[in-house]
Amino acid sequence: TVLVVDFGAQYAQLIARRVREARVYSEIVPSSTPVEEMLAKNPAAIILSGGPSSVYEPGAPTLDRALFEAGVPVFGMCYGFQLMAQTLGGTVDNSGAREYGRTDLTVSKPSSTLFEGTPAEQAVWMSHGDACSAAPEGFTVTGSTSVVPVAAFENDEKKLYGVQYHPEVMHSTHGQQVLEHFLYRGAGLRPDWTTGNVIEEQVAAIREQVGDKRAICGLSGGVDSAVAAALVQKAIGSQLTCVYVDHGLMRQGETEQVEKDFVAATGVQLKVVDAQERFLKALAGVSDPEEKRKIIGREFIRVFEQAQLEIMQEDGPEVAFLVQGTLYPDVVESGGGTGTANIKSHHNVGGLPDDIEFELVEPLRKLFKDEVRMVGQELGLPDEIVQRQPFPGPGLGIRIVGEVTKERLDLLREADAIAREELTAAGLDREIWQCPVVLLADVRSVGVQGDGRTYGHPIVLRPVSSEDAMTADWSRLPYDVLSKISTRITNEVKDVNRVVLDVTSKPPGTIEWE
Ligand code: XMP
Repeated sequence: TVLVVDFGAQYAQLIARRVREARVYSEIVPSSTPVEEMLAKNPAAIILSGGPSSVYEPGAPTLDRALFEAGVPVFGMCYGFQLMAQTLGGTVDNSGAREYGRTDLTVSKPSSTLFEGTPAEQAVWMSHGDACSAAPEGFTVTGSTSVVPVAAFENDEKKLYGVQYHPEVMHSTHGQQVLEHFLYRGAGLRPDWTTGNVIEEQVAAIREQVGDKRAICGLSGGVDSAVAAALVQKAIGSQLTCVYVDHGLMRQGETEQVEKDFVAATGVQLKVVDAQERFLKALAGVSDPEEKRKIIGREFIRVFEQAQLEIMQEDGPEVAFLVQGTLYPDVVESGGGTGTANIKSHHNVGGLPDDIEFELVEPLRKLFKDEVRMVGQELGLPDEIVQRQPFPGPGLGIRIVGEVTKERLDLLREADAIAREELTAAGLDREIWQCPVVLLADVRSVGVQGDGRTYGHPIVLRPVSSEDAMTADWSRLPYDVLSKISTRITNEVKDVNRVVLDVTSKPPGTIEWE
């Protein structure tokens, strides 16, 4: 394991991903972790991330010197670099030598462990107000910029390396190569962490955890729950039952995709609950977005629990496990907790004890989204499932501005299917993050079609690009694609006489309209 010590500001996740892209397993630990605890994990190497603090300010995160003396290879980046410099006796100060953004790095020791084989001048991404003006004793300066004399250093004998810049960001053109040099040459690691290994390891762990009991898994149609279910299915076969609640708010073909493609690819035991009527009834007369979300969430849990109850009443071993598609970023963001929290599932359906405790099976909790997709692919899931764009749990219910009715859902499903079909045909699926299609059910406008006046509803296209859905920008789709979608929707979908494009970034707009 390579430990990535997190000094804040979200650099650590990106570094961990880059290390894994080099096919070496990495884990993030907060910088407040005591050094003995870090070393107790027996790390093969340690990377110190950047962070927003100044090393000499009171209260700034520090590291015990022992970390650098344990014989474990260490690579410091930005704040991590300055901290290494300061801890080992170098000089860091605020001399006004600040650099933000693209900078040219001059490599002063081309044969150094980190830079061998990379250009003498390379673009790097800087973001610092402090700078290291003297390297610690025993270190060789390996790179500089026009502003800072010490932009990279190494002590190859002690396997300690540092760079002032951020090699993990794309703008550092040789960043990945430098990181790999640290991992392979500096730390002597091999690129052997592969999707195949992940699957093997998880299958063994799941078998061990579940034993001969049973597990259930809710399928949402999304990538994470599908891959989690497929992994657990591979491990325990018929001891797993998946539950898919069809709330009638799905897009065209989605339920069939789960029913046919997913089952065909995995052989999983699937219980499909048709709850369309129930959801429509509960949503009748409601147009407030928050109220809709609450109703959908509540009904979903009720239906899921009812299905659970039915499965538990079938003959067979105890149903003790609930499979969840929790990903590594969720684990890190909630404080990196370890192990298997018990969650309570409250039942308001008759015949069951008040609360039943499930133990969680979370086979994806070490993985990032792109890794989950690779695992899904390796498990033989079809591209339509593995490469799916995000779709909200409340489904089309929050893409109808106004009351949700069967007619409106059908209409929106048709428009959405056309938009998706054309985006796919234009090869744009991977370029856009997602493209909500929204029906403004309470708005009407005048149009003309075939010599007659129409008075129909607008459809909104909301294509966005994003890294993580926290922020987003509207996608600049080619005009001919937009034009084709517009023509088809207004021609083919009854009661729609206008297609509009949402050109708002997030913030201020959210991705979904409700
Ligand atoms: P917003 O609209 O907040 O959406 O910009 C951010 C991302 O989250 C998705 N989303 C949801 N996903 N349950 C989900 O599973 C929800 O209730 C939900 N609401 C929004 C949205 O599609 C976007 O990817």
